[in-house]
Amino acid sequence: MATLKEKRTCAQRCEDFGHFVWNSDNGTLMGRTPIKWVYISLYYVAFYIVMTGLFALSIYVLMYTLDPYEPDYQDRLHSPGVMAWPDTYNDLDLDIFYNMSDQHSWMKMSECLKHFLVRESPLRSVWDAATENCTQGHYFFQKKFEAPGHTKWACPFTQSMLGNCSGLEDPSFGYNGSEPCVIIKMNRIINFLPNNGTGMAPYVNCTVLDGHKNVGEMEYFPKNGTLDLSYFPYYGRKAQPTYINPLVAVKIHLVQEREAKIQCRVVAHNIAYQNFYDPYEGKVIFHIRASS
Ligand SMILES: *[C@@H]1O[C@H](CO)[C@@H](O)[C@H](O)[C@H]1NC(C)=O
Ligand SMILES: *[C@@H]1O[C@H](CO)[C@@H](O)[C@H](O)[C@H]1NC(C)=O
Ligand SMILES: *[C@@H]1O[C@H](CO)[C@@H](O)[C@H](O)[C@H]1NC(C)=O
Ligand SMILES: *[C@@H]1O[C@H](CO)[C@@H](O)[C@H](O)[C@H]1NC(C)=O
Ligand SMILES: *[C@@H]1O[C@H](CO)[C@@H](O)[C@H](O)[C@H]1NC(C)=O
Ligand SMILES: *[C@@H]1O[C@H](CO)[C@@H](O)[C@H](O)[C@H]1NC(C)=O
Ligand SMILES: *[C@@H]1O[C@H](CO)[C@@H](O)[C@H](O)[C@H]1NC(C)=O
Repeated sequence: MATLKEKRTCAQRCEDFGHFVWNSDNGTLMGRTPIKWVYISLYYVAFYIVMTGLFALSIYVLMYTLDPYEPDYQDRLHSPGVMAWPDTYNDLDLDIFYNMSDQHSWMKMSECLKHFLVRESPLRSVWDAATENCTQGHYFFQKKFEAPGHTKWACPFTQSMLGNCSGLEDPSFGYNGSEPCVIIKMNRIINFLPNNGTGMAPYVNCTVLDGHKNVGEMEYFPKNGTLDLSYFPYYGRKAQPTYINPLVAVKIHLVQEREAKIQCRVVAHNIAYQNFYDPYEGKVIFHIRASS
């Protein structure tokens, strides 16, 4: 029986391929006449030029409408969130429990505050130039970019402003006794003006929700728990790379059973604090307990 499939030699295959590449009988190159190839090439060249043009145009339009100094979408954040340190968050609740006669236990709290302050700490050289234009009690509006590297100045916030809660005089932050410090931070929002530009500074007000008789006194640092107006508005990470969040520390004098549930709220009429869906909007609630 003859084989159905003819065995072809390698030379024959090469010849076939040669015919495919250039067929002299009907003058085609890879199955098409050269003029057709020219048309096809022109078509693709035009196609890619149009595609590249469209892509470049859309990128250009996007870049043109984007302000590099501000994120485009920040419509969700109208009111700032508030956080507290030492951040011993246990699920969603902030429990500051420590044993003041157990060094290992209270050191955990004071170390946490120490690390927090180091992280928040500043680039001093850049401040020195800015301080002359920082006026306490006044917003620090800056239309131009006058700081080095086309940026804006930021007012200084130093650890020593936290007074007896700065950790400078008492490195235990009060945790070796019953007068612990809690540090409150309000998150920054670009262009946010507390009290809507009326010139009243926001301040932290802590209230005891539970265990009134266990709290003797609450001291605020800086005085009155004020977040000075010169830290506002915040212009964004790129415009104000040296910005430091102002902080407020609260020294809580615990008495009797030394246990309480406390709410600290940043008070300003345009800071909401009753958002059911965001319990950290405008306030922070924590449990504090000093055992011995
Ligand atoms: C606190 O620490 C002391 C000393 O380590 C210990 O005797 C005491 O039982 C601890 N108190 C509590 C409530 O754990
Ligand atoms: C302070 O403000 C004045 C007037 O606006 C300006 O000329 C000066 O450069 C500012 N200084 C700094 C360090 O920003
Ligand atoms: C800081 O603490 C010291 C001693 O504990 C006290 O004498 C002083 O009045 C406190 N300072 C402030 C601003 O409360
Ligand atoms: C806590 O530590 C500070 C600073 O080291 C010290 O002055 C203070 O007496 C200590 N307090 C207690 C209750 O041990
Ligand atoms: C805030 O101030 C601006 C202009 O000063 C005003 O248009 C706006 O209604 C004010 N908003 C609130 C909530 O008071
Ligand atoms: C702090 O809040 C409490 C309870 O809401 C209120 O009674 C008190 O007057 C407030 N203090 C200040 C300084 O606003
Ligand atoms: C703190 O508040 C009191 C009373 O409201 C006020 O007299 C005092 O000037 C305030 N101090 C500061 C530094 O804001």
